[in-house]
Amino acid sequence: MSSGIAAHCPAWTIPGYLEVREGHLAINGVDAIDLVREFKSPLFVFSESRIRDNITRLKRAAEVVDRPIKFCYASKANSNMAILQAVRNAGIDCEVNSGGELFKALRVGFKPEQIIFNGTSKSDEEMDEAVRAQIYAINVDSIYEIDLVEQSVLRLRARGENVPPARVTLRLVPEIGTRSHLGLQTALLTSKFGISSSEVLAAFRRGLQHPELVNVCGIHIHVGSQTPDVEPFAEAFKSMWEHLVTIHNETGHTLEHINLGGGIPVNYLRDRSQADQLPEHERDMLGAELEPADVLTEVMRVARESARTVNAEHLLDQVTILLEPGRSVIADAGLVLTTVNNIKTRPETGDVWLLTDAGYNIMLSMNNYKWYYHLISASRAGERSSRDYKVAGPLCDSGDVYFDIEREGRLPDYRRLPDDVAPGEVLSLLNCGAYSLAQMFHYNGRPLPAAVLISLEGSPKLIRRRDTYDDLITNDVW
Ligand SMILES: Cc1ncc(COP(=O)(O)O)c(C=O)c1O
Repeated sequence: MSSGIAAHCPAWTIPGYLEVREGHLAINGVDAIDLVREFKSPLFVFSESRIRDNITRLKRAAEVVDRPIKFCYASKANSNMAILQAVRNAGIDCEVNSGGELFKALRVGFKPEQIIFNGTSKSDEEMDEAVRAQIYAINVDSIYEIDLVEQSVLRLRARGENVPPARVTLRLVPEIGTRSHLGLQTALLTSKFGISSSEVLAAFRRGLQHPELVNVCGIHIHVGSQTPDVEPFAEAFKSMWEHLVTIHNETGHTLEHINLGGGIPVNYLRDRSQADQLPEHERDMLGAELEPADVLTEVMRVARESARTVNAEHLLDQVTILLEPGRSVIADAGLVLTTVNNIKTRPETGDVWLLTDAGYNIMLSMNNYKWYYHLISASRAGERSSRDYKVAGPLCDSGDVYFDIEREGRLPDYRRLPDDVAPGEVLSLLNCGAYSLAQMFHYNGRPLPAAVLISLEGSPKLIRRRDTYDDLITNDVW
């Protein structure tokens, strides 16, 4: 492939972002093979312009409803500092889940009023950090946790720190199912999250007992990640809205915001060439095309209707809506480049095995959720994929494979790539930007890979240096 014109235009391409140039995969015009030459393999590559576009899509969606929308990027999806900076520069706020993520968000320049803090099990130290920083909201996950916030305020004041009442949001778990993986559903009563509906009123009454210590300002539900349908969002919003009205009627207290969580899905099956090998429900979930504008339109329609019925439109008109998008900001803005290190045939089965340098220690979801990331050849991106290969990573674990080792069909048994893939060929797993870099670990003494961000100007910038062997032992004491 020497011509600049691709033999065909694969379905995974995105004009201006993911393209075929000179036969190679190009990311915002930057040649993937040049990147591997410069930054080595495996390599994460992110696109700042794609992050921008994803955030612009969310902001446009906000224009379709008549309430202010505050977007708080779920930093657990990817909290690399340069990624956080790109998100901040794109003009949205931040959701954190630990003292560490709070530290990173503040360090990168998010203002306290731009930060909300979720979590089921916050330590006293984490609580103190959040209270001291005076963030927009601490989302409490149980009635007991209200005590913990109050104690934190008292503790800091006893030390002479002049903190105002902490702003608190109560997280609910109203038993709403979605069509995502069970492990990604968080509004079921079997999930570990939130306060159940039967305890909501008691929780709010408890939260309102000491206004000098906590200011209960919102209500929160996150139905789960990769939610393919609008209905669970609408149901969750309606539930929160109805609680808001009840709380107002019972206590006179008016909540400022309703937080609908994250979960806007990403289409992982833009290229559907292997989709027919996935079970139907998996295909529907992974290939979801749900517009955030449609979600917001529907939730407001439902809430307006209910508000009219109970004569509470004035309450709805005071509400700010919060969203916590993670995946929809960063998943398709990142990919992994990986090199084939080894090849073997298995004459008994007729299989050709490609052994890459990218294992599940850098893409945990591929192992624990059997998550489908479309695989292409970055070296021969314009060539048709017509041959099936067994593909696996480098870890000493038979589960480190790009198919479903348990034979439950959640991943295709084979990956389709061009003919005659050979060692040295660079492959790419697409849509790997979310829940990957943030979950990497050193299993098998594997130094973690570098990451680069293609800037808005189109130049690659190192945003995570590759680990050295010394990094493997830096915290060991012997
Ligand atoms: C509380 C909360 N908010 C937001 C998110 C982000 O979800 P997503 O990345 O699907 O947008 C998550 C992740 O599951 C979460 O647990």
